[in-house]
Formats: sequence, structure tokens, C-alpha cells
Amino acid sequence: MRTDTGQVFLLEDYRPTDYDIPEVALVFRLDPDDTRVAAKLTVARRENVAADTPLVLDGDGLMLERLLIDGEAVDPSCYEATEDRLTLRRPPPQARFELTIVTRIAPAKNQALMGLYLSNGIYCTQCEAEGFRRITYFHDRPDILSTYRVRVEARQAEAPLLLSNGNPVDKGELEDGWHYAVWYDPFPKPSYLFALVAGNLSGVRERFVTASGRPVALGIYVEHGKEARATYAMDALKRSMRWDEERFGREYDLDVFNIVAVSDFNMGAMENKGLNIFNDKYVLADPETATDLDYANIEAIIAHEYFHNWTGNRITCRDWFQLCLKEGLTVFRDHEFSADQRSRAVKRIAEVRTLRAHQFPEDQGPLAHPVRPRRYREINNFYTATVYEKGSEVVRMLHTVLGDETFRAAMDLYFARHDGQAVTIEDFLRCFEDASDQDLSQFALWYHQAGTPNVAASSHYDAKARELTLELEQSVPATPSETRKRLMHIPLAFGLVGADGQDMDFQDAEGARVRDGVIHLRKRRQVVRFKGVETRPAVSLNRGFSAPVTLSFEMSRQDRLFLARNDSDLFSRWQALNTLFTEALIDATASVRGGKEPDFDPVLLACPGEIAAEDGLKEAYRALALTLPAEADIAREIGRNIDPDAIAAARNALREAIAKTAARIFEKLYGNLTDSGFFSPDAQSAGRRALRNVLLEYLAAGAADPALATRQFKTAHNMTDRAAALTVLAHQFSRTEAAEEALSTFEETYRGEPLVLDKWFAVQALIPGPDTLERVRRLTGHSAFSLTNPNRVRSLVGTFASSNQSGFHRADGAGYRLLADTVLQLDRHNPQVAARLAVAFRSWRSLEQGRREEARKTLARIAEEKRLSRDLRDIVERTLA
Ligand code: TRP
Ligand code: ZN
Repeated sequence: MRTDTGQVFLLEDYRPTDYDIPEVALVFRLDPDDTRVAAKLTVARRENVAADTPLVLDGDGLMLERLLIDGEAVDPSCYEATEDRLTLRRPPPQARFELTIVTRIAPAKNQALMGLYLSNGIYCTQCEAEGFRRITYFHDRPDILSTYRVRVEARQAEAPLLLSNGNPVDKGELEDGWHYAVWYDPFPKPSYLFALVAGNLSGVRERFVTASGRPVALGIYVEHGKEARATYAMDALKRSMRWDEERFGREYDLDVFNIVAVSDFNMGAMENKGLNIFNDKYVLADPETATDLDYANIEAIIAHEYFHNWTGNRITCRDWFQLCLKEGLTVFRDHEFSADQRSRAVKRIAEVRTLRAHQFPEDQGPLAHPVRPRRYREINNFYTATVYEKGSEVVRMLHTVLGDETFRAAMDLYFARHDGQAVTIEDFLRCFEDASDQDLSQFALWYHQAGTPNVAASSHYDAKARELTLELEQSVPATPSETRKRLMHIPLAFGLVGADGQDMDFQDAEGARVRDGVIHLRKRRQVVRFKGVETRPAVSLNRGFSAPVTLSFEMSRQDRLFLARNDSDLFSRWQALNTLFTEALIDATASVRGGKEPDFDPVLLACPGEIAAEDGLKEAYRALALTLPAEADIAREIGRNIDPDAIAAARNALREAIAKTAARIFEKLYGNLTDSGFFSPDAQSAGRRALRNVLLEYLAAGAADPALATRQFKTAHNMTDRAAALTVLAHQFSRTEAAEEALSTFEETYRGEPLVLDKWFAVQALIPGPDTLERVRRLTGHSAFSLTNPNRVRSLVGTFASSNQSGFHRADGAGYRLLADTVLQLDRHNPQVAARLAVAFRSWRSLEQGRREEARKTLARIAEEKRLSRDLRDIVERTLA
């Protein structure tokens, strides 16, 4: 394990290397326990660098076998090789030389899943961010761009398939049952994009012809027998390729594009040039084993990794501080893709829910950092919701501020200007300034300042003057990264909704009649006047969630209800209803804590029934509108002194009250939405299932009877409906015979399907209440569970810790201790996943006193351990700070 040296990396310390490495030739001779890697590097001393400057390359756990310069063995006195560094004290005098490095590695022993490892007998690599240094000594940093020529040798029987980046150039047989393949990637790339796959896999192949007529051979490689489960991913890939041509003018550039699905993977997927490697969860799908959410995730992640080919690979990051340059931008692109493929409003609501669930707590807690951080101890810990999700929101705001045409012109400029380079956020923003002639220096604070800005708003209508005034005030809370904050540029899209539900027009500054627009809040306080407003409107602000802020808009309940029923911006309509639910739930939580029965406004209770039956709205939208804020959402809004049990009780009470109010409507609609038996994963069909399954949850709550869910569980034709029914049974009827029977039927049915059993683990990890802890502990001993497979760990322990409010936050602190034990055990072999799991502690300070103390003690216990990975120590120390 890489131990922690306490070293901190600072953005301001960036300096180019003394030596460049324009060409890399690698030869792998694959063996599970003893793989030989011969790397021939073309090393070029940069101009103005003294000839005797030492060359220092990164390594991580390496064993050097041979070192040659221009084919001659190097005298041991001239270099020093440790596990994590190769220092050539006196490089040769010539400005360009060839350095050959031979190392030995053991993929079968690699459980960190970084570098070259074995997953289910498949050799594969993961090099981002700093995994290439676990394969050979290198300048393992993204500003070193090299062409790669890769020869892979393996036993034919063990690995008939041999893949690497770029195009295939040669293959053949060798002695003793070995064979080889040679790949060449002509596009200079950083080492983090290197990839190799070798194994016995089956391919699904298709052809794609690019806009300019170039054919591309597409391949998706999966375990034998799972080919049919790759067809949806293949379809998503082709749609992604076409979309990037149409929306961004980006064509694919190699002759082949391959995707490989592996079962042991630290994250979702990886964009290695021409050879994406995926967590199999995000490739494999069929109606029997995957839910609609799985299909949507596959579509989004296939697109995301493909889009990296231009935003990440052709143009990459100068250093890891610039991670959002590729990630935020690529997330924005995949969001837009999904919005175009499905329903834009539904997609936007889902994005905002994710942002609030993951990024807001990060931004509001001890791990807050700017979208472009200035310091890190372990870069793996910065693949965060802030870099990805908020990074995407910042790009979306650029689009809002500049408009579609200028945005596209700026992107075109970015591609033209920086193709083949490793660049910074400043380079990126300069393209937007140059294309728009706008000064974006205030806007740039979105990259540099952490914290979720708050916007307070109120409005006043003067009937005589026919004038509406809107008062706005911004503030940014202090975070560990900056205590004093500067004023931000916050673009707030808005509309004025008239009594008939239509947007009203008003006079703009020039006297022209306009209907909606964007307010640019740049000062601390701003008063905006709208003239010529004929009647008092309801103000719909931050439409489409144009800025990632918390908005407190002083508004009458009447207006809020009116917007919840009428706003023409479907996002804001959902938001209005969601705000009403949240307010009701906060009040109800206070009642529960005060020992009172919560009571709810009958007008609000009637809303879900009305919306459920509103035929003009898509089913997927109605499903979202009917979904109550999660317990974690309520906790976040309450913000301090949190009692998860009271929140759960309040939420159950509201669900039951709605169910009783709308029982007839819900029953009828549930009946009308019956499944035809034919499954299609398209957005509309998925929307129908989503609505029906939300209704099931209410109907079960209202009737307090598992019969309906049991029937759906037994008759379901697809995994979406089956898993939804199982969830209702397990969560709303936990410990009943109906629930336990369904759980064991499910287990029996999917015995040999690890990805499906992950759903079974997760459903159980989410059973509310204090007893779930014991169940989770018991399940860690289940034969399908494994601490070395990240998907298993995340499904069971990760889900429990990050999403089961009443279970994990058990008042006696046993949930915290279970998490700590798992994290410490995991840290010995997979620090990256251990550190991610530990992030579940991040909101400990907002808990009520008893739980807070339990969490603090547990965190302190982890921190006291002597041998923590750099990844875990960094998270734990920042969380405690
Ligand atoms: N770059 C990848 C993406 O955004 C994610 C990634 C970063 C990753 N580091 C990783 C994946 C380590 C697996 C392991 O798509
Ligand atoms: Zn990415």
C-alpha cells in the first residue's frame, strides 16, 4: 500500500517537466503473477534545460529489472530505482535519447484496481489518475503527451482477445501457444488514457460511418453468453456518435472504437483513447435483469465516455487541478445528450435532484472545494460531485449567459485552438471571452470559490404604477477553502406568470415588450423593476435551475400553490410543489419531535392526485412530481440538530395522508397503466412504469396492505416492476412474511447474477429502522458478497451508509462503527473505494448532539490508525477538521 507522506500538491507550484516523452513503445508479456513490461521511451530534453539535469520518473510499487539508454545497459552508479521513483542522475548529453525500462508486475495480486489487474480472469488497466506509474516508470502527469505503440503478448488459450488504444496494426502467433497483437495510437495522449485488455471475451460488432464518410469498426466486449445484454449499449454508442456530430460538429477519429465491460471496477467507466473500459453495470442490460434506471445510466455513461474523445482526450488537462476542464464539460455534454434523447424537463429535474443530493452537502460540509481546486493531497479524492456536477452546471451557465449560438462558436474556437494540447480552465474561459467579447472574470469565480451561493428574493407589485419590483440579495457562505467570498455573477432565468397561467409580458429597459429572460445578479443587492405589468403576476425565478444556488423566495403559499399548478416552465412547476412538500415536512418533523401528530394542509394533500391525473403531462414528469423529498433532502434543508427518526416519521405521515386523500385517483390510474407484457426501454414506456411504481408506493401506504405489491412482484414482466414491488414490500412491510418471502424468491431467482443481487443487497440495506444494521452485517457474510468487488461493497455497505438515514444514523452509533470497520478493512487493499465510503461521514456536524458525538468518536478512531492510505487519511482528516 502507498503510505501517506502528508505531501500537499499546490496549483501554484505547476512547472513543466525538464524532459518530454513524445513517443512510447510498450511490450507486455502477460502472466497473472509475473508480467514483464518493457517500455521504450523517446526522451527529449526541453530547450533551455541544462544537459546534466537529472531525469526523475514516477513509479508506484515497481520493481526495475533492466535499464538501457540507446540500447546500452546503464551503469548502476548513474541511476537510482525505488518503488516509487526512477532517478537518472546523469542523463546522456544528447538532447534526445531512448530509455528502455523493464519492470515486473503481478496483475493477479492487484486489488487496488489501479494499474494492470485481473478482473474475472480478464487483464485490464485503469490508469487515471496516477495508475500508469504502477505499470512502468514515467512522467505520469497529463501534460506529457505521447504516441503509443503497444505490443501485447499472451497465452492464446488464456487471452484470445488482445486490445489496446488506437488502431490494430499487426498480430500473429508465437511459440508455445503464445500470440501477440500490436496497436498504434497516432494521437499524442497523456499516460492516464493508456489502456490494455486481454482475455477471453465475446464481441458485439457494428459499423458506424462518420459524417464525412469514414467507416469505424465498433466493438463491445462482454463475457461469453452476455452478448444480448450489450445491444442497448451499442445502440446508445451509435446515437452518441451521431449526436456529437450534429450538436458539436465532432467526428470520431480512429478506425476502431472498442468498449470492454469488466466486473471489478472502481468507478463507472473510463474514456481511454479508442478503448473505453466500463464497469459492467453500465453496459449490460436486458428487461429481465436491468431496470429503467439502469438503461438510462447506460445511455448516459456510454455517451459520457464517448464524448471525452474530444473533451478530455483530444484536448486534455494541463494538470489534475484542471480536472473539471474535461469532467464538468463532458457531464454537460452527456446531460444535453440525454435531454435530447428523452424529455428535457424530466432530465433536468433528475439532474437537479442529484446535484442537491450529492453536491450541495459536499459544498456545505467539511469537504467543500472549488470546482477548480488549488490544493490536494490525493487526487483520487477529487473525482467529486463538485468537479463533475457543479462543473457541468457552470458550463450550463455559460450557455445561459452567452446564448446558444455564441456558446457553440466558443466551443468551436476551443476545439480549433487547443486540439492536441493540455490546457487550463483559463484557456477554456478565454475562448468564451473571445467568442463573445464579454469579460468573464466575475463569472470565473464559479470555478474558484467553493460554497453554494444563497439568493434571497422578494417581490412587490404596485397595481397603480403597473410595476413589479424584485429585490435580490446574494451571499456565499464561508468554506474551508476560502473564508472571505467575492460577489458572484448569478444568472437567474425567470418568467412572470399571469392569472391564466400564461407568461405575461412586460417592458424591458428599452421599452420593448418581452416575456421572459435572465436577470444577471452581480452585486450584493439588486432591485429589478418591470414596467407595464398589467396584473399582479406570480414570479417564477431560477427557471430550469439556471444557477446552482439555494433560493429563498418570500412568497405567499397561494402563489406557490399557483405555480405548482400552472407554471409553464415545467422545472419550476416541479420545484414549487417540491418546496411546498419540503416546508410541510420540516413542520411535520418539528411536530413529531414535539410529541405531536403532524397535520397537513388539505389543499397540498390534494395536489398529487390532481397532477397524477393531468393527462397533458408526461408520465415520467408526473412520477417525479409525486415523489416526495427524500429523508436526506429534508435533513439537508433542516440543516442542523438533525433527528433522522423524526424525519422518517414525518415523511411516512405525509405519504400516508396523500395516499388517503387521492386513493381513488391513484387506484384507477394504477389500473389503467397495466403492463402490456412487451418491454421497451424508451423514455415514454419507462415513464409509464415510473408513474405506476410511485402509485404502488402510495397505494401500499394508504391501504397498509402488501397484497397489491405482492401481486405486482409475482406477475411482473420486467426487472423495473419487480424491483419496485420488492422495494415496497421490503421497506413498507419490513419483517412481514410477505417481505421476507419476496426477498428469498428474488435471491433464488437471481442466484448466478451478481448485478441483480446488487439490487437485492441495496434493497435490504435501505430497509428503514435500527434493525437493518444487523441485516447488513449478516449480508457481508453472504456467499455473493465480496469485499474485493467495488459493486458489491457499494450496493450493500455504501447504500446503507449514504442513503439509509434511520438505519445508518442509529442513535447508539453502531452504524458508524460498522462503516468504520468496513472502511479500515477495505483500505488495506482498495484505498480509493475505502475513501469514497468514508465520505458518508461528511455531514456528521449537523446531527443532533448524541449522534454527533458518536460519529466524532468513530472518525477519531479511524484517524488514530497508524497505517492508513493517503486516500483515506485525507478524507478522514478533512472531515474532522
Ligand atoms: N474519467 C472517468 C470518467 O469520468 C472516471 C475515472 C476517474 C475513473 N478515475 C477513475 C474510473 C478511476 C475508474 C477508476 O468517466
Ligand atoms: Zn468523465
